[in-house]
Amino acid sequence: MFDPALFKLPGMRRAAGILGLLAVIEGICIVFQAYYLSVAIVGLWHLHALSTIVRPMLIFAVAWVGRQLLVVIKNRVMYPLVERTSGDMRRQVMQKLYQLGPGYVAKTGTGNVVTTALEGIDKVQTYLMLVVIKVIDMMVIPWIILIYIAVLRWREALFLFAIFPLIILFMIILGYAAQAKADAQYVGYQRMSNHFVDTLRGLPTLKQLGLSKRYADNVYQVSEGYRKQTLAVIKIAMLSTFALDFFTTLSIAVVAVFLGFGLINGTIGLLPALVILVLSPDYFLPLRTFANDYHATLNGKNAFADVQKMLALPVPTDREQLGTTPIHWQADSTLSLRDVDFSYDNDDKLALKKIDLNVHGYQRIGIIGASGSGKSTLINLLGGFLTPVADQGEIQVNGQTVTHLSQQAWQQSFFYIPQNPYLFHATLAENLAFYQPHASREAIEQAAEKAGLTAWIATLPDGLETQIGEGSRGVSGGQAQRIALARAFLDDSRRVLLFDEPTAHLDIETEAALKETILPVLDDHLVFFATHRLHWINQMDYVLVMDHGQIVEQGTPAELAAHDGAYVRLRDEMVGAI
Ligand SMILES: Nc1ncnc2c1ncn2[C@@H]1O[C@H](COP(=O)(O)OP(=O)(O)O)[C@@H](O)[C@H]1O
Ligand SMILES: [Mg+2]
Repeated sequence: MFDPALFKLPGMRRAAGILGLLAVIEGICIVFQAYYLSVAIVGLWHLHALSTIVRPMLIFAVAWVGRQLLVVIKNRVMYPLVERTSGDMRRQVMQKLYQLGPGYVAKTGTGNVVTTALEGIDKVQTYLMLVVIKVIDMMVIPWIILIYIAVLRWREALFLFAIFPLIILFMIILGYAAQAKADAQYVGYQRMSNHFVDTLRGLPTLKQLGLSKRYADNVYQVSEGYRKQTLAVIKIAMLSTFALDFFTTLSIAVVAVFLGFGLINGTIGLLPALVILVLSPDYFLPLRTFANDYHATLNGKNAFADVQKMLALPVPTDREQLGTTPIHWQADSTLSLRDVDFSYDNDDKLALKKIDLNVHGYQRIGIIGASGSGKSTLINLLGGFLTPVADQGEIQVNGQTVTHLSQQAWQQSFFYIPQNPYLFHATLAENLAFYQPHASREAIEQAAEKAGLTAWIATLPDGLETQIGEGSRGVSGGQAQRIALARAFLDDSRRVLLFDEPTAHLDIETEAALKETILPVLDDHLVFFATHRLHWINQMDYVLVMDHGQIVEQGTPAELAAHDGAYVRLRDEMVGAI
């Protein structure tokens, strides 16, 4: 019902202390309020002069105002803390995302990550704001009221005391049921987000295949599922609110009956009886408000757990085994992998098996294989976006053993050029100078020229200052690749290039034109080039043939062509396909 992890948040204990103190004062206000209201009513009942009830009514009013003020003050105490906590959390989540890298996003789904990082934290905010105050009220206020009632008459106090755990027990049972439904709802919500992001991204493909209608149905089904899950949560919430109201009202009625008998028998005066009756609903009130909001905050609780889980994920440590300055790959640099395994789910199923690889100096290494054979996985492992199975195999950079390639120094020494290079929402010049923010205008223009962008830039209204990226001017696939290449031209210090099928989605003419631009970049670089387009192979010095996560053959193109192996089979397949 209440998450102990909440109290581990910085500043929470102090705030809880203050809120506890305020709750005590509120409890006292409630008692005063009930007592003086009853005094006034009893006075009227006994037909005392109106002037005699002015003083109790004034005290009642002061207590009432004090009570309302305390609610405001409590929110004031909590609000900055919640703001700070959610701000911190957002920052931590972003930082964690950077540390975990693209591998994590690919594994969890973009929609999921967006949900956690954006809305998830909003929900956590609501959760913190609503739940902490109410829980503390619930732990403090009923006791103060109960003690006062016990002072007046122990029998009613005993009854109220006995009924409280019963109601809580009952709520816990309903809470578990609600939790199960809310968990399902949260999973459904994340599924829906993933579906939505998927659909947005796949819209061109879906349209092209004429599947958008069917996919729209699919999205409809998923959101229908979510609607049902939401209604299931609301059903339980309604049920438990009703049950709780019913039980508390019944309990108050029982107390009223007790008090009535007491009045008839003359064992209790009118004033204490009235005070007890007025206090009884307030005794249950914190419990009821907590229960009401409990269901509304279940999502926030799940989001909170989600964020905590993500923050607790292990990140690659020892990222500075190669030091903190970029290593400059040179003609005599070496990189070797021996028996390196990789698994996506840390289970037995290996996505890469016993990778053995020795490279030195400037070489062009082609990585070929059918789709799903592990080319991208290998590139991502080489880029350090994925970390290999621990305590297995060995990786060395310039003779120095490292546990993974998520090394700062290594990652600052290569360019990664995927199928769809990401363009940030910024000007073209800023995108070009992405790795070199201080590059001069001339250097940027030269790099753009080398990458074959000049003619296109001349057609843009604002030239290099044109906004591109998401929501701005569209950029074609070939142009995006050229921008990525220009980045490489601009920063000469990064001498390692990781290409992951950079031309896979381009038409043949665009690819041929782009190839002219790419080839010069490959000189004086260590290049890993994953591709399934054959014509690139002849440009490579060395080829790795992948199949089912293994390098099944490696050698120069000539060597591989000379004997009838995996390479020749793959080549024949591709030729056959054409
Ligand atoms: N994010 C992922 N989570 C789990 N499995 C994955 C993930 N990405 C790829 N795989 C699996 O790893 C294998 C190799 O995929 P990949 O490296 O993308 O192949 P290629 O790039 O050669 O087409 C495939 O079986 C694929 O299903
Ligand atoms: Mg791939």
